Amino acid sequence: MLLLISCANFSKLQYSRIYKRDGWQWRDRVIESLNLKKDDKVLELGPGSGYFTFALAEKVAPSGQVFALDVDEKAIAKIQGRVAEEKIPNLHASVYDGSLIDLKGQKVNVIFSVNVYHHLPEQIKYFEKLKSHLAPGGRIAVIDHHLEMGMVLRIFVSKDHQTPPETIRNEMDAAGYKIVQTEDYLPLQSFMVFEAK
Ligand SMILES: C[S@@+](CC[C@H](N)C(=O)[O-])C[C@H]1O[C@@H](n2cnc3c(N)ncnc32)[C@H](O)[C@@H]1O
Repeated sequence: MLLLISCANFSKLQYSRIYKRDGWQWRDRVIESLNLKKDDKVLELGPGSGYFTFALAEKVAPSGQVFALDVDEKAIAKIQGRVAEEKIPNLHASVYDGSLIDLKGQKVNVIFSVNVYHHLPEQIKYFEKLKSHLAPGGRIAVIDHHLEMGMVLRIFVSKDHQTPPETIRNEMDAAGYKIVQTEDYLPLQSFMVFEAK
């Protein structure tokens, strides 16, 4: 019975990698879905351990750049350490205060965040301000946990660490963005891409 309830979302899991995040996160497919160009500039908000960050930098290398901003000093220090060790010239990780973004006048083509939306302060104001950092035609990709999965999968997601997709759509609309892409292959998360209206 439980399997039937969750059937649609269970088919979105990669069983060969089920014991790792790769089993449900589809990192490579997510990055493909962003349709990045070689020289794109990407801003990742809340990179954490850098699960997506290094793959993004590789995707747009050598001429594209990735900027990664997080409030967590230890997380950024770890990313910076790996950047230095592996000599990755196009990845720039910095600590920031969680609301004021300073890209030293650079504009980016894509802003990307995974499981960060629910952490952001006053999302509508936050994304309104982000518009000034987007290059013409720039896009914002938001992936966040939701609770719209089968009952069995719901054990993976805490009520406090998710955002209903409808809330993201409504808040981004209020912040002045229109939705231009929706992907539904992630079993635990919504994945939407927005552009300024
Ligand atoms: C659940 S983790 C996700 C990390 C990473 N995106 C991933 O998917 O592996 C949330 C991250 O958001 C960061 N964070 C919290 N508030 C933030 C803010 N206002 N701006 C940017 N990052 C923030 C946290 O420090 C943490 O690294």
